[in-house]
Amino acid sequence: MQNLSPGIIGVGSYIPERVVTNDDLKQFVDTNDEWIRTRTGIRERRFARADEYTSDMALAALKKALARAEIDAKKLDYILVATASPDNTFPNTACWVQKGLGLEGVACLDVSTACSGFVYALQLATALVASGQNKCVAVIGAEKLSAITNFQDRGSCILFADGAGAAVVTMTQGRGTIICSNTGALFDYDALAVPAGGCRLPASRETVEKNQHTIAMNGRATYQTAVRKFVEMANEACTRGGIKISDLNIVIPHQANEHIVYSAMDRAGVPRERVILNIDRVGNTSSASIPIAFDEAVGDGRIKRGDYILLMGFGGGLSWGYNLIKW
Ligand SMILES: CC(C)(COP(=O)(O)OP(=O)(O)OC[C@H]1O[C@@H](n2cnc3c(N)ncnc32)[C@H](O)[C@@H]1OP(=O)(O)O)[C@@H](O)C(=O)NCCC(=O)NCCS
Repeated sequence: MQNLSPGIIGVGSYIPERVVTNDDLKQFVDTNDEWIRTRTGIRERRFARADEYTSDMALAALKKALARAEIDAKKLDYILVATASPDNTFPNTACWVQKGLGLEGVACLDVSTACSGFVYALQLATALVASGQNKCVAVIGAEKLSAITNFQDRGSCILFADGAGAAVVTMTQGRGTIICSNTGALFDYDALAVPAGGCRLPASRETVEKNQHTIAMNGRATYQTAVRKFVEMANEACTRGGIKISDLNIVIPHQANEHIVYSAMDRAGVPRERVILNIDRVGNTSSASIPIAFDEAVGDGRIKRGDYILLMGFGGGLSWGYNLIKW
């Protein structure tokens, strides 16, 4: 019998129904479609309903991933939810997902590394199943960023959106094999942060009036570091995986900004047609962006059995990480 290794046996995603165009954002800030399209690549994004929460989207994405994996939810023994916009501080969002599945006694953990959250969670899931501690792990990236976006800041509110993506990880016979992962963080509070709501700046009338419970971003600083880290990660992943950049069939980067992605991939030597980008329709959904793009590319046949796939995340922290997969 072939050796078992940690792998992804199903992916799924969910994006909310409500389409928000660039022109729609004019009701909040002084902006225009051309500026947003040319600076970011975004044409439209999706926002969740007022009564639709991060855990609802996580659950919808996970149910699709379970169906694709042909696995009953009862087989899950760990739920990891990467999110920067949890339902509550606690119970964590993974607990809400467990409740939604009607399960009990499953380990539930939220991973809060913003846009790199899904790759962090996938690395953890790999270790959990490889060590034998767990058998079947749900890995979800889910966000309701519209709930933590500053709609008075035109430099950031044009980027963010809502959605969820999920993967089911277990020991497999060479199916969706996770070859290697690496994660890390640089400290840069000024680049990206939600300043208030934690113990450093508890909620008060003043924090609400100053919009400090929403995302504060220095776009330029984030842009430059993101490009550098994407190039470093692509090179490191291929070296550690024992392949060449030219062997990569598919690269799925965090959908931060079309220019960040293409500038980094051009420098790394990855042909643009191998890069999955859906930012024009989906916007930046932080930890959900990679699994949503992953699911779409599996669904429409761009990802084929045997492909080398590189997932690369980068975001708040600043945190970064990658997973190299043989599909
Ligand atoms: C946000 C981002 C698109 C801004 O692009 P930029 O080229 O850096 O733009 P700047 O912030 O320097 O602003 C340039 C000009 O456009 C204006 N501007 C900013 N946002 C605008 C908007 N939505 N509409 C119209 N004009 C806008 C600025 O006021 C500025 O005008 P000025 O020159 O008259 O002062 C870009 O920095 C970016 O994508 N950074 C990465 C952010 C990111 O990915 N964050 C998430 C990481 S996970």
